[in-house]
Amino acid sequence: MRRSILIGTGSALPERALGNEELAKQVDTSDEWIVERTGIRNRHVADSHETTASLASDAGRKAIEAAGIEAGSIDLIVLATATPNQTFPATATIVQDELGCNGGIAFDVAAVCSGFLYALGVADSMLRTGMATRALVIGAETFSRILDWEDRATCVLFGDGAGAVVLEAREQDGDEQRGILTTRLHADGAHNQLLFVDGGPSTTGTVGKLRMKGREVFRHAVVNLSDVLKEVLDEAGLSTDDIDWLVPHQANARILEATARKLNLPPEKVVMTVDRHANTSAASVPLALDVAVKDGRIREGDLVMLEAMGGGFAWGASLIRI
Ligand code: UT7
Repeated sequence: MRRSILIGTGSALPERALGNEELAKQVDTSDEWIVERTGIRNRHVADSHETTASLASDAGRKAIEAAGIEAGSIDLIVLATATPNQTFPATATIVQDELGCNGGIAFDVAAVCSGFLYALGVADSMLRTGMATRALVIGAETFSRILDWEDRATCVLFGDGAGAVVLEAREQDGDEQRGILTTRLHADGAHNQLLFVDGGPSTTGTVGKLRMKGREVFRHAVVNLSDVLKEVLDEAGLSTDDIDWLVPHQANARILEATARKLNLPPEKVVMTVDRHANTSAASVPLALDVAVKDGRIREGDLVMLEAMGGGFAWGASLIRI
């Protein structure tokens, strides 16, 4: 059986860190409110020289180094972002040129906070069907550029960053269990105006700002995420007890805790980085994954569940044997 094996991870953050106290000097909020309602203490904010493409390239380069391969051997780049450098070309092509792996396939995927899960699903399908052999899958965002910095209900929640993984297609015999085992993706467009940007090339002609009905998103997130996690486990013939690590989208510590509780998953198995990075949209899952790989928590052989939910609504989960 041909499977996509995860052989390297990497991540990148803008240099500038912005803590809650400093943010509270700019907008009517407090460290206490933000920590209590979200678990966020800090986020990173891109400077003018840092872009989605530069963060993505940085994360991609580190993932390639960790995999111990030549950048030129990457024949597929799928980059998830809702904040591309330009409307077109795809930011993936800028990264491709930056890393020196021109000639293969390169494109962006737009599924907002679930973007990395969608990108992973697409890349996995392309690797398994033989369209490519080595894929760089990236989630990268500069949400600071689309935040309304006067709207305290949203600007405190997000941060910038990038995370990446290298996947390699390998033939495995029946006993070998490494690789992406199952991915399930969903969207429900009926809710596309609960979390959106109020601009775009085909409507206002401006970039626009992020708008969100936070409480409604929260309610749907817990239900949708626990459903898709159960769906993926059923599909793989596994149970919650088999999961070594849950690497969730880092939107809000309360969503993470509620989802883990619904699954009966002990909190110590949940990788949580929302306190340091806030919600980095498509970057949040690969960024958290890289943190837990680099600090030695996630090791080869571990069964890792990734999940995310966001604007669209779009959501999904993926089960990987590292
Ligand atoms: O990644 C995509 C997915 N996104 C999400 O998953 C986000 C999901 N939603 C959430 O995480 C939460 O709904 C929020 C963190 C956004 C908000 O928490 P909440 O407990 O749902 O608060 P709320 O929006 O109902 O607001 C409660 C109060 C309001 O004041 P009143 O009307 O009760 O007087 C807000 O005006 O908190 C006020 N508030 C703030 N106060 C201080 C809202 N934002 C702030 C703030 N600082 N930054």
